[in-house]
Amino acid sequence: MRISPKKYEFVCVLIVWIMVASACDTVSNYETLSFFFDGVPKQDSTIIKLDSIKFNQNAQKALIASQLVSHSHKPFSNRECAKCHQSSFSNKLNKEINDLCFDCHTELVKDSLFVHGPVASGYCFKCHEPHSSTNKRLLLKVDQNLCYECHLKTEISINVAHKEIQDTVCWVCHNPHSYSKQYFLKN
Ligand code: HEC
Ligand code: HEC
Ligand code: HEC
Ligand code: HEC
Ligand code: HEC
Repeated sequence: MRISPKKYEFVCVLIVWIMVASACDTVSNYETLSFFFDGVPKQDSTIIKLDSIKFNQNAQKALIASQLVSHSHKPFSNRECAKCHQSSFSNKLNKEINDLCFDCHTELVKDSLFVHGPVASGYCFKCHEPHSSTNKRLLLKVDQNLCYECHLKTEISINVAHKEIQDTVCWVCHNPHSYSKQYFLKN
């Protein structure tokens, strides 16, 4: 069978087109960009641009907010963003959020007989902000409500040990993370 020159030309153009298209099609473009920026929507270049701007604005806001509050996390104020994020330009985390904090805070559960449930499972973010806070120790809340987020007030108040505590914060008596004594009691 003989291929006419016209057909031959068409096939050539088609092959070249496929090569170019697969080298820089929107899908691989998406994969490259979504590696750097979170939530990049598929195959829409205009939205991709807007999204990267949104990340920069969020990062900027986070930095400004940290300057307004009195307590900043050291790796955040040192701008070591990549210690927790995939890069300094991405809000995607390095690893699962519940593995993140143990990279540096191994001392919290070391040699402890009793470890608090949310600490053991790395749910630090249930009590702490990762960047900065108006509260000391980067706490989400500074009163008993921090603990009542998970423990029922009705159940806690039944225990005679809690009869007189009134507004005393729970961590006056309990270590919030872990301890060598049952119930992480300090005394
Ligand atoms: C100690 C770890 C840590 C460091 C250091 C850190 N981050 Fe984060 N960042 C987090 C965690 C955890 C989240 C929350 C992610 C989630 O909720 O899914 C987050 C979320 C974000 C977000 C999403 C919006 C928001 O505020 O929740 C932005 C933007 C961000 N970080 C920017 C930064 C920048 C910029 C830096 C460096 C100046 C930085 N981060 C340093 C842990 C960190
Ligand atoms: C890259 C290392 C690193 C990672 C990862 C890290 N931290 Fe820290 N963190 C530090 C350093 C350094 C300090 C300051 C220690 C000091 O001043 O003695 C600190 C201090 C803290 C403090 C005490 C702040 C204060 O005001 O006393 C808290 C709370 C804290 N980190 C929570 C977290 C949580 C929650 C995570 C996970 C989201 C986390 N850290 C991940 C390095 C890290
Ligand atoms: C149930 C709430 C809760 C959880 C979960 C929690 N923390 Fe804390 N954390 C606290 C409280 C409350 C304090 C303040 C203790 C004080 O001031 O006596 C604190 C203090 C700290 C401090 C300051 C130094 C110290 O030991 O007092 C660091 C660092 C810290 N937390 C890191 C972490 C990390 C990392 C995780 C996760 C592995 C975590 N926390 C999980 C409640 C919690
Ligand atoms: C994110 C949820 C969460 C928060 C917030 C939380 N706890 Fe817990 N706590 C648990 C879980 C889960 C257990 C393990 C289940 C159990 O034994 O009841 C636990 C167990 C305990 C125990 C041991 C109970 C036992 O029977 O052995 C004490 C004491 C305790 N928590 C105190 C606190 C204090 C104090 C705070 C506030 C600083 C607090 N918890 C905040 C989830 C939480
Ligand atoms: C004055 C010190 C003190 C304060 C403040 C305190 N506790 Fe306790 N807590 C104790 C003692 C002591 C025990 C052990 C009681 C026992 O052996 O039954 C205990 C036991 C517990 C237990 C395990 C037994 C149970 O009742 O489930 C939990 C959970 C607990 N406390 C949570 C809290 C929370 C949440 C707060 C804050 C609202 C708090 N505690 C405040 C002293 C205190």
